[in-house]
Amino acid sequence: PLVSMTEMLNKAVEGKYAVGQFNLNNLEFTQAILQAAEEERSPVILGVSEGAARYMGGFKLVVNMVKALMEEYNVTVPVAIHLDHGSSFENCVKAIHAGFTSVMIDGSHLPLEENIALTKKVVDVAHVLGVSVEAELGRIGGQEDDLVVDDAEAMYAVPEECERLVRETKVDCLAPALGSVHGPYKGEPKLGFDRMEVIQKLTGVPLVLHGGTGIPLKDIQKAISLGTAKINVNTENQMASAKTVRRVLEENPSLYDPRKYLGPARETIKETVKGKMREFGSSQKA
Ligand code: G3H
Ligand code: ZN
Repeated sequence: PLVSMTEMLNKAVEGKYAVGQFNLNNLEFTQAILQAAEEERSPVILGVSEGAARYMGGFKLVVNMVKALMEEYNVTVPVAIHLDHGSSFENCVKAIHAGFTSVMIDGSHLPLEENIALTKKVVDVAHVLGVSVEAELGRIGGQEDDLVVDDAEAMYAVPEECERLVRETKVDCLAPALGSVHGPYKGEPKLGFDRMEVIQKLTGVPLVLHGGTGIPLKDIQKAISLGTAKINVNTENQMASAKTVRRVLEENPSLYDPRKYLGPARETIKETVKGKMREFGSSQKA
């Protein structure tokens, strides 16, 4: 069923595992992620960035596509459709109106007071409708769609600010920037585990780890042990599927039917997502 993130994340904290947010880019990604979740008996969060929603034809189309596929596959595991890095109150409300069950309001570029005010405004509307909300503090580096944060702008979250934001806004989960980046890492990621622990204790909410691509398993496990209950992955599926498309086209230079290269790419995404679900410990938890 389509649900908010609230219950799945609370269960994840309790069971010491994390639910994956896998981003949608097109039909094949959506098929692959839903099939992986059902086959792994795992809860799943479908992440939809504003740019990806635009590419696919808008929020309503994405919701309709997800609902149609869930019906087609008889999906029984919990699924959330989540706006990833919502950039404004208006876009969050539009997504909720279209049927999203969860939204992220990314006010991380704003001064604390303004981030709190914006996040609270979104929470007040979302919670009336049973929709969960994720907020961000500090600034996650790297690039995802329209969102570009260079090294100098990337900033670690301050624990006291996290405590205040969660207390004043009542968000369901928080993404504190702690050294993870969107897109590939330059070298080994250096995550701020000490702060992660403090922030979880101070806020009491499930934490979200963005930039899940390229984080070694031991760091994933450490993050989960410190209260991380949601891990976002996009680039890894994009890279894996692009690699498959390249291989198939190189092996068959005269091939032109998109089903012949997107079909194998879809299989690759499915296998990649299943692997992540096992790493995150969410398999067999639905
Ligand atoms: O919000 C989405 C994620 O944080 C994705 O990060 O593309 O580095 O896996 P990634
Ligand atoms: Zn992100």
